[in-house]
Amino acid sequence: MGAMPSSNVTKAVIPAAGLGTRFLPATKASPKEMLPLVDKPLIQYVVEEAVAAGIREIIIITGRGKRAIEDHFDVSFELEENLRENGKKGLLKEIQAIAEMADFCYVRQRHARGLGHAILCAQHLIGNEPFAVLLGDDILDAPVPAIQQMIQVYQRFQAPVVGIQPVPKSEVHQYGVIKAEPIEPDLFQITDLVEKPVPQMAPSNLAVIGRYILTPEIFKALEKTPPGKNGEIQLTDALRILAQQKVMYGKKLQGMRYDAGDKLGFLKATVEFGLKRPDLGKPFLQYLKSLKL
Ligand code: UTP
Repeated sequence: MGAMPSSNVTKAVIPAAGLGTRFLPATKASPKEMLPLVDKPLIQYVVEEAVAAGIREIIIITGRGKRAIEDHFDVSFELEENLRENGKKGLLKEIQAIAEMADFCYVRQRHARGLGHAILCAQHLIGNEPFAVLLGDDILDAPVPAIQQMIQVYQRFQAPVVGIQPVPKSEVHQYGVIKAEPIEPDLFQITDLVEKPVPQMAPSNLAVIGRYILTPEIFKALEKTPPGKNGEIQLTDALRILAQQKVMYGKKLQGMRYDAGDKLGFLKATVEFGLKRPDLGKPFLQYLKSLKL
């Protein structure tokens, strides 16, 4: 038995090594996580959420064809020189801030063997600490950063926390779904999880969305998890193993969630984020109204 992990969550793992087949052909040669919502890549929203929750160390799991992600969070010398020379101070500050907001490190997942396997790739960087996992294509627009809502639960119970939201029964087959006992409004104790159930078999309508606070025990569970569909190691399967041994919580997240790795989810997010922009919202709304749908 190792020592208890600390109660501070200072590291986040952002798996971004998937092939993005739902978004082909855009993702043939460019990372899905770099698709822009208005003018900012998806993964920057996700990193900003982690940073807003006090996380300073960002571990991004990448793979072939994902170099643009590393360049995005690095200094861009020529661009910065150009902006400086042309007196574009506002833009320069904004661009510089991207590389400075956290410490970034990268681990390559050599083969896309699933989300569980991607997380396993970060094991040597985590040590005996709790850590956050944020999926690079799940966008949560919330007054309190979603991962912070979950860190607050972790700090009370020192146990893994899974982000959940209710979904219509007709959509449960697209998600991992929890079986759970409510213990407070918006807080559940998870007894089991089912991956992509048919509606009749779903134990609830509470779907797992792309945010987790995990403890190092997950790595042992992942090592024990046999590859499932398509030879992928599923995080849900490892969480199932863990739920049998340990108390685990589900936190119903406040805020609007967009599956931006899916074309329809991406379009919805684009419209809503566009409408919310102070510089674009008004003319964009006028344009949408002019469509007379
Ligand atoms: P998804 O299933 O949404 O991503 O995985 P995908 O496999 O890239 O997309 P589709 O289904 O083919 O369209 C959720 C997250 O886990 C990462 C993805 O990059 C995404 O952010 N992931 C997935 C990995 O890092 N490695 C993997 O082997 C699989």
